[in-house]
Amino acid sequence: MSKLDLEVDFYESANPVWNPALLTIPVPGIRKMVNLAATMEDVIHLSIGQPDIPAPPHVIEAVVEALRAGQTGYTMDAGLPELLEALADYYGERSGRSITAENILITTGATEALYLAITAVSAPGREFIVVDPSFMLYAPLIRMNGGEVREVPTRVENNHQLDPQDVFDAITPNTHAIVLNSPSNPTGTVYPRETIEQIVQEAAYRGIYIISDEVYDHLIYDDIDYASVLSCCSDLDHVMVISSFSKTFSMAGMRIGWMIASQGAIKKLRRYHMFTTTVANTPCQWGGVAALRGDNSFIDEMVATYQKRRDRLIELVALTPQLSGYKPEGAFYMFPSLPEGVNGSNVALRLLRETGVCTIAGDTFGDSCSNALRISYATSITQIERAFERIIPWMEKQDFN
Ligand SMILES: Cc1ncc(COP(=O)(O)O)c(C=O)c1O
Repeated sequence: MSKLDLEVDFYESANPVWNPALLTIPVPGIRKMVNLAATMEDVIHLSIGQPDIPAPPHVIEAVVEALRAGQTGYTMDAGLPELLEALADYYGERSGRSITAENILITTGATEALYLAITAVSAPGREFIVVDPSFMLYAPLIRMNGGEVREVPTRVENNHQLDPQDVFDAITPNTHAIVLNSPSNPTGTVYPRETIEQIVQEAAYRGIYIISDEVYDHLIYDDIDYASVLSCCSDLDHVMVISSFSKTFSMAGMRIGWMIASQGAIKKLRRYHMFTTTVANTPCQWGGVAALRGDNSFIDEMVATYQKRRDRLIELVALTPQLSGYKPEGAFYMFPSLPEGVNGSNVALRLLRETGVCTIAGDTFGDSCSNALRISYATSITQIERAFERIIPWMEKQDFN
């Protein structure tokens, strides 16, 4: 049995040894493609969900220094006090509101913060509004704990923008929380301030929680305004804002993220955090202090690099038959559509097998976009151009009707 079969077997198996809740975890579409790509030669990846730019040298130095200085033990449960203070200052300045160390919990990447936030509030009978398509962690974590997902679809024709009215229409008396992610993975869409304000205000009025995943909050192009939920809410009573160093500082493998919420919520989740990962990686938390307190010209350079790649990708998608693109304004993804009714999963698989270009099928991110492909531009312009030298002639030959 191949490694790929084993993975599929694990997730689909009804073997009684496993908690049936594990069945809510889908066969990971990304893994499937990347594992297949690993068996092939000369693959060009447009599939990668992490920065290809190295972490800033002063961050790496700080981690090494921390290790040499013997910073190898546990930190306080909420996180390293120096990092909590640095984050409080940074968010205070960015959001224009007072954030204290007691509003913050340091976690093992944004992934742990999402896990804590969602699993701590999901329960049978509770509904969660999730945009479709969205990052693949949210819905399974909700369902694993008995909650129900109500999907609000977004469309390529509208640049995958979220219409607040669609969110309001999805609210029922059982709605417990709304999950937001701007800029979005997989669409790269950035929601304008009016969208965030309207949703946050309505949610506050109805006592519904907002869980906002803001890991791409610095990857914003064309100098547009970025509206964090933190800058749109009147208090923190019903919001949990989650982010990490993974994307902004190219520190994905260092696994440092955080949650910002009311002091009461943080107090509760600190205990839960102790029962999951205890504390986050200590030397890498020192790397985080260096990232926040040190020179951050790195971010502007990185944003300029991604923006150039995004612009080139928009041109290349426009030249590709069968693909409808748009202008994503953040993160490093585009989510172009194939013609209505075309199975994106088959196309992604054939594209990989027949041209060696690895993309991710739309259905990895929800049911409403099975005719889409996620293209990541966390790779060089040369690689993006080489990939389209293969994609365009291949698409020209396809007759999907
Ligand atoms: C939208 C989104 N949220 C969260 C994460 C996880 O981030 P972290 O590396 O901080 O766990 C990712 C990673 O790809 C992501 O795309």
